[in-house]
Amino acid sequence: MQILFLGAPGAGKGTQCKKLAEKLSLPHLSSGDMLREAVKQGTKAGIEAKSFMDKGLLVTDDVLIKMFKEFLSKKEMDKGFILDGFPRNLPQAESLSTLLTELSKKLTVVINLQTSDDLLVDRITGRRVCPNKECNAVYHIKYFPSQKEGVCDKCQTELSHRSDDKPEVVKQRLQTYAEQTEPLIKYYGDQGLVKTVNGEGEADEVFNNLVKALQVTA
Ligand code: AP5
Repeated sequence: MQILFLGAPGAGKGTQCKKLAEKLSLPHLSSGDMLREAVKQGTKAGIEAKSFMDKGLLVTDDVLIKMFKEFLSKKEMDKGFILDGFPRNLPQAESLSTLLTELSKKLTVVINLQTSDDLLVDRITGRRVCPNKECNAVYHIKYFPSQKEGVCDKCQTELSHRSDDKPEVVKQRLQTYAEQTEPLIKYYGDQGLVKTVNGEGEADEVFNNLVKALQVTA
């Protein structure tokens, strides 16, 4: 399956994609994780990306398109993949479509993970992340606390706060989503690909909604 996730910042895309990737044994390609790793490594793309990310704006299309072209062309993607965070506007969606045609692949389904706005801010401001790129586990101080405060359960790395999770940046990220990414729901809806999944409630409940929508066994 070639699955694409759409959903506002904090909707739970990363949380659900990780669970689904494990269940279906598919690679999870998160644009945000890739960009944060590039920032950490101090690559040219990472240095350029950071200034946009810290303002809650989209990084330039060229950077993302090049990055995903490289990943999606890998042999291991032949068994399918889960896209999280790319594409994020119409030009990126059109580039993805061209790329998939070149690779003789197509999207199977687009999941629109839907949540109300008041929930998003609560989820984002309480988020803590594991910065170890082999792990990238995500916690929440109220909903998914780590066993030992501030330390990743899986790899014992010290947890951190994402630099774009500050309230003023979150506001801009929500606006960027509404203006540039939300139109993709119609774009893919017109192609008959969208399934809307209720992203509210506990993570396991959301996951059950998701597997039902995908018609795979829970
Ligand atoms: P990115 O990292 O993709 O961020 P995002 O889309 O804003 O999404 P988030 O990671 O904030 O949220 P999520 O939906 O994954 O939620 P999560 O599962 O973590 O992008 C960051 C930036 O990179 C962008 O702003 C942009 O600058 C740049 N960028 C990325 N892609 C780009 C592109 N294609 N083009 C240009 N620029 C790009 O959950 C959130 C919290 O809630 C967690 O703490 C989690 O534990 C908790 N939680 C999850 N589910 C539940 C639940 N059911 N109940 C209670 N708590 C829950």
